[in-house]
Amino acid sequence: IRKLEMEQSLEMDEFARLIGTFDREDLEYAGERARTVRKMHYGNKVYIRGLVELTSYCRCGCHYCGIGSAVKSAERYRLDADQVLSCCENGYQLGFRTFVIQGGEDPHYSDGMLTDMIRRIKDSHPDCAVTLSLGERSRESYEKLFEAGADRYLLRHETADEEHYSRLHPAVQTLKERKRCLCDLKDIGFQVGTGFMVGSPWQTAECLAKDMLFMKSLDPEMVGIGPFIPHHETLLGNEKPGNVDLTLFMLALTRLMLPKALIPATTALGTLDQNGREKGMLHGANVVMPNLSPMDVRKKYLLYDNKAFTGSEAAESLSSLRKSMNETGFRVVVDRGDHIGTSVKR
Ligand code: 5AD
Repeated sequence: IRKLEMEQSLEMDEFARLIGTFDREDLEYAGERARTVRKMHYGNKVYIRGLVELTSYCRCGCHYCGIGSAVKSAERYRLDADQVLSCCENGYQLGFRTFVIQGGEDPHYSDGMLTDMIRRIKDSHPDCAVTLSLGERSRESYEKLFEAGADRYLLRHETADEEHYSRLHPAVQTLKERKRCLCDLKDIGFQVGTGFMVGSPWQTAECLAKDMLFMKSLDPEMVGIGPFIPHHETLLGNEKPGNVDLTLFMLALTRLMLPKALIPATTALGTLDQNGREKGMLHGANVVMPNLSPMDVRKKYLLYDNKAFTGSEAAESLSSLRKSMNETGFRVVVDRGDHIGTSVKR
């Protein structure tokens, strides 16, 4: 852990050994170092992002995901630009200065529809950042979205192990294509987020070591890490959920490897553990992404079972989030919350 903090990386076998054998003392030590490093760069600030779940239609069939095309019981919906704008308006009043437009891979949304939507958000809130999380698209499409004013893009790599990737996804979805997307996004100039689930079926310490080294080479501005949680109607519906402590350990190691990264305490972590978000902060996270979607669609965007949508993760409960963050030693701020190593050109 000390070597990781000093050198900001480890060899593959060192990562695998650390991840495969850590104990409570290691977790506490890594958490303490991650807190210190986070504080050095971001103080005790917590950045918030308003999450707008654009569509629950998805052409993909990821074997873990509750909105995959094979999940028959999933209720499908789409938001139009007016609805998205009104979510952002509401979010702005609440103090959000970043909006994350996330959705399944839904061909309904053409480049033109998305660029219009992005322009309208940027026109009405020029002081806000727009983050997209809409899956794999062509380089040309990403270029148009960036031109229209989108600042950031989230696309988890899910797992950096080829074989593991192919067990979690149908054969048409490949790790190679996922990496192509991430490289294009970086190259175009987006602040890029990637990440992975902890405790997905067949995951080993070696898989997680590969995730770390892949992230080291990509050098993303943001990293999302959350526990796998089964969704009853998917192929992996009977598998065990991921482990909270291992998730916290991976958060802490990620902070030590990428000291300036923006790292959310995810909704999945908050779903598995009542105090997940606070524990995330104590292990190096510095971002929370409350839900700003229209209330009636929140129960239709269920990536996994028991996904929270009316409690403290809701944007409307910001005052309780502020309070619990204060009690944990952190402070929610009204700020775009850009990556500190990135010069913002617009
Ligand atoms: N458990 C936890 N996380 C999940 N995701 C999708 N399905 C699940 C699940 N069952 C995560 C994926 C995706 C992100 C939007 O949600 O990592 O990239």
